[in-house]
Parts: sequence; C-alpha cells; structure tokens
Amino acid sequence: MAEELRGRTALVTGGARRIGRAVALALAEAGADVVVHYNRSEAEAREAVREIERLGRRAWAVPADLRHEQEVRTLFAEARRFAGPLQVLVNSASTFPPSTFAEFTREELIESVEVNAWAPLAAARCFVGQVEAGAIVNFLDTRVVGYDWGHVAYHAGKTLFELFTREMALRWAPRFRVNAVAPGLILPPEGEGPEYLERLKGGVPLERVGAARDVTDAVLFLLRASYLTGQVIWVDGGRHLLEAKRG
Ligand SMILES: NC(=O)c1ccc[n+]([C@@H]2O[C@H](COP(=O)([O-])OP(=O)(O)OC[C@H]3O[C@@H](n4cnc5c(N)ncnc54)[C@H](OP(=O)(O)O)[C@@H]3O)[C@@H](O)[C@H]2O)c1
Repeated sequence: MAEELRGRTALVTGGARRIGRAVALALAEAGADVVVHYNRSEAEAREAVREIERLGRRAWAVPADLRHEQEVRTLFAEARRFAGPLQVLVNSASTFPPSTFAEFTREELIESVEVNAWAPLAAARCFVGQVEAGAIVNFLDTRVVGYDWGHVAYHAGKTLFELFTREMALRWAPRFRVNAVAPGLILPPEGEGPEYLERLKGGVPLERVGAARDVTDAVLFLLRASYLTGQVIWVDGGRHLLEAKRG
C-alpha cells in the first residue's frame, strides 16, 4: 500500500542546492512540509524555502556543519521546535573531494567518514528518537559496488554508509523503513561543466547522463513504498552492473 506524503514533515540534509534541493522541492510538490538543512549555502536555502512556500507548503532553513555531531543534534532540536515531529528523513548532504589511493590522508578519510557516514547515522538516530514511525532515504553512490580511484576517501565513507543503511533497516524495523538511492552520472562535481559527465557516459549501459528528476522520482517511490526496507535503487542507467568488482 502506498504511504501518503501529503501532510508529512521531512528533513532534507544538503537541501539548499543541487540534488538535495530537487528532493526538497519534489517532497513539497508531493504535499510535504520540508526542513531544508544547509551548511554554507544560506542564501540558496532561504530561496528554496521561499520556493516551497510558493507551492503552498511550510518550510524552514536550518544550518549545521555535519562534521560536528553536536550540530547534528542541534539541527534536530531546531527542526522539532519549528516543524514539530518529522516523519521523513533524506540524508543527501555529502562531500566529494578528489583523493587517490597513493596519497589520501588520514584527515581526508576522517572527514569523509564524518560527513558521508557518521553524520547521516547520527541524524538517523536523532530522527528515530523523536517519532514513533517513519521513513529514511540515504544517498549512496553507484560506485559502492566497486571502486573510485579518483575519490578514495569519499568512496570509503559511502561504502561504510551502505553498511550502516542495511544495519539501520534491520535494527529499526518494523517502526522505520530505511532505503537508499545510489545515483550515477547526474550532476557534474562543483566547478565542473557538463563535459565532465559526457566524457564518462560511455561506461553507462543506457549511454546517457541522468537528471535530478530521475533521482527524486526514486526517492519519492521509496518513501511511498510501504513494504520496502533495506532496498537500494540504482539511479545510474545500469552503471553498477559494470562497476561491480571492477578495478
Ligand atoms: N551529483 C551526482 O551526480 C551524484 C552521483 C553519485 C552520488 N551522489 C550523491 O547524491 C547526493 C547529492 O549529490 P550532490 O552532487 O547534489 O551533492 P553535493 O553538491 O556534493 O553536496 C550536497 C550538499 O552537502 C552539503 N555539505 C557538504 N559538506 C557538509 C558539511 N560539512 N556539513 C553540512 N553539509 C555539508 C553542502 O551544503 P552547503 O552547500 O549548504 O554547504 C552541499 O550543498 C550526495 O550524497 C552525493 O554523494 C551524487
């Protein structure tokens, strides 16, 4: 049976820009109120709030640097104060700096684990502590099935987050459903143009780049699909089939 999103309240981490913003807007279009988390993008977060309000839903912008666990807790306290209990959490915020296997540092690994694995786990713990039941969607990456030799620290953080996603789904059932999306080539990294993805699309079975809308469709599907937990939707044109165990 489909779960209703209308009248629900969602928190989207990294909701000010790019894919997170598209998720926040899609949730609002589906009838949810949205807490838009941001770190540095305050102006974009406030603009996203205005856009959601124009759609007739309530929205709030709340900052937190996810490298600091205390800020995660403050984010949830603030969200609760503004919006009341949350029924939906989307963990989209992430950091994606380049790093190689030969040279990645302990500090780069720690920061990736903090932002890409520990912070969303901490956010999910706050989330399950404040409401009886709900749904979580975590953002992984198509490459968790294989390697990312250009972003080794990032890849380690996301791979750990994939494990945490399965553990959350098991430990918090039956009250909470925890699923994930694993995007492939959707948006180029910050500072890169469309040619960055065009160069890579030869490695995609569907031979094209995806759109933010492909990702938001999968997120909304997972949030509504009341018998799914521990599921990963690969929004990647089939790329994970080729990435698996490839060096
Ligand atoms: N783009 C793709 O094609 C692609 C491919 C595979 C996987 N993904 C995954 O999909 C999700 C969304 O992708 P994206 O490209 O839109 O993400 P992104 O632009 O790399 O990052 C999203 C947001 O994360 C927030 N963030 C980064 N460090 C933070 C910190 N220390 N504290 C709090 N927030 C922090 C930033 O918020 P502020 O701007 O407010 O600082 C940023 O806007 C990510 O989890 C990503 O790994 C994306």
